[in-house]
Amino acid sequence: MASMHRPVMLQEVLRLLDPKPGMTVVDATVGYGGHARAILERISPGGTLIGIDLDGEALSWTERITAGSTASVILRQGNFADLGSILTAAGIREANGILFDLGVSSPQLDDRERGFSYREGTPLDMRMDRGQELDAARVVNEYGERELARIIREYGEERWASRIARFIVEERERAPIITADRLVEIVKNAIPASARRRGGHPARRTFQALRMEVNGEKRNLERALPQAIGRLGKGGRIVVISYHSIEDRLVKKAFRDSARQCEIPPASPARPSRGALLRVLTPRPLLPSSSEAADNPRCRSAKLRAAERTA
Ligand SMILES: C[S@@+](CC[C@H](N)C(=O)[O-])C[C@H]1O[C@@H](n2cnc3c(N)ncnc32)[C@H](O)[C@@H]1O
Repeated sequence: MASMHRPVMLQEVLRLLDPKPGMTVVDATVGYGGHARAILERISPGGTLIGIDLDGEALSWTERITAGSTASVILRQGNFADLGSILTAAGIREANGILFDLGVSSPQLDDRERGFSYREGTPLDMRMDRGQELDAARVVNEYGERELARIIREYGEERWASRIARFIVEERERAPIITADRLVEIVKNAIPASARRRGGHPARRTFQALRMEVNGEKRNLERALPQAIGRLGKGGRIVVISYHSIEDRLVKKAFRDSARQCEIPPASPARPSRGALLRVLTPRPLLPSSSEAADNPRCRSAKLRAAERTA
């Protein structure tokens, strides 16, 4: 299964993260271990890799493929929104590198039971952590019309969000919406035929919005970034690959804020040292090469940003 997940922008990640023997590196979205394996090779011997993921199945796989490494491997099922406490509990104070490769992995997308795709008969699930209660069926059947419209507009950047939300609410009164194909039909009916012909699968944006809501993706990233920056040792690097403009904007802003000069007035009793926390290494985000995008269409929307801890 793991062979189906090709680590996105691997060469760029390795160049910017710059892992070396003995280093401590956190892979905050370790998934099926694609990036992690390459990082482990670079930090061995003697280094430590901490791999975090919400998905217990992915972690079991990664545990198997990393067994026998000469570096130490610490795998934790958890949310990167709790990065600080996960690292503290693992006895890690500072890291030389932290990687986030956001979103879902190919094995998650391809496993029909996980409910991420719009194929016929797929249950509306979309939970990365199968232990959590909120799934896509609950969002679709229980959220109010205005809330649904907001999510579809904001996370899906879907201009027909209000109509889609209205059609969902009307349809669910007939019978609960529990499969992906029924939702696809409802979304198709809500989008005028002329608009349906543009921009790929008509339900793509709605499904993306539901996934982001179910997994709290925006909120988790907002919480995680300051903790990650705070846990980098001097010279440590953070690399984030995002697949959605909301995520990329959050990363850009978090890096820019930490890269600004500290503007605390000189009279402040704390007198912190002036100077920024981060130096941005990618003034513009890096994109996958055309050959990688052709080989792996799922990486096409990837944007990579990196920064180095200076103080
Ligand atoms: C694109 S995949 C990572 C693939 C991995 N880099 C590789 O090469 O195999 C993203 C992973 O992040 C996990 N994930 C998403 N949000 C998370 C969160 N808030 N906390 C922990 N893991 C998360 C998903 O479960 C998924 O396994």
